[in-house]
Amino acid sequence: MSFHQLLIKWYEIHKRDLPWRATQDPYRIWLSEVILQQTRVNQGLPYYENFVNTYPTVYQLAAAPQENVLKLWQGLGYYSRARNLHMAAQQVVDMGGLFPDSYKELLKLKGVGDYTAAAIASFAYKEVVPVVDGNVYRVLSRIYGISTPINESAGIKEFKKLASQLIDHNQPDVYNQAIMEFGALQCLPRNPDCATCPFSDDCIALSDNRIDELPVKIKK
Ligand code: ADE
Repeated sequence: MSFHQLLIKWYEIHKRDLPWRATQDPYRIWLSEVILQQTRVNQGLPYYENFVNTYPTVYQLAAAPQENVLKLWQGLGYYSRARNLHMAAQQVVDMGGLFPDSYKELLKLKGVGDYTAAAIASFAYKEVVPVVDGNVYRVLSRIYGISTPINESAGIKEFKKLASQLIDHNQPDVYNQAIMEFGALQCLPRNPDCATCPFSDDCIALSDNRIDELPVKIKK
């Protein structure tokens, strides 16, 4: 079986039932991804529910007073995310209320970087663009035994290239959710569950006993 087949097979068995996976609405997907940028799923969940209930559409978020948005954000930290969220909602309304519908256009939104644009483009529009977040760096560096530092340009480029080769062109959305979920639940930073891992026969880090060394991050 290919990498994406093994991965998606694992995902179908282990995936969590998360509300932003049950929608194709780019607004809701964007909200969830901004909340999850520096926040764990369990902590982010109630905030996501609160935001979509209080502001069901991008118009309502854009029209809200900034202090209300910041109040709803309270406890999540990194308040620039909330300010960017509010500004990006206004950008979208200024574009006629239609969410940008490609990776390239999504990058123009305040607070939307490479990762978030790829997540929205693949989940909402099925654009074939790989997400590369901390989970993905960990999974790929271990299975493929890559020790190029993930916080330097050579590493960023190398992992992005590999991720582009591995993504499932028929279901880029499922593939991207799957690799993040795999990093979050199976290929953990400490004590990953290699005994039950579908990649244990192929994993270079496991066979070389380098699990704890990967991914490599250079201290700056
Ligand atoms: N972390 C960031 N995006 C996520 C997603 N879509 N599902 C689960 N965890 C995530």
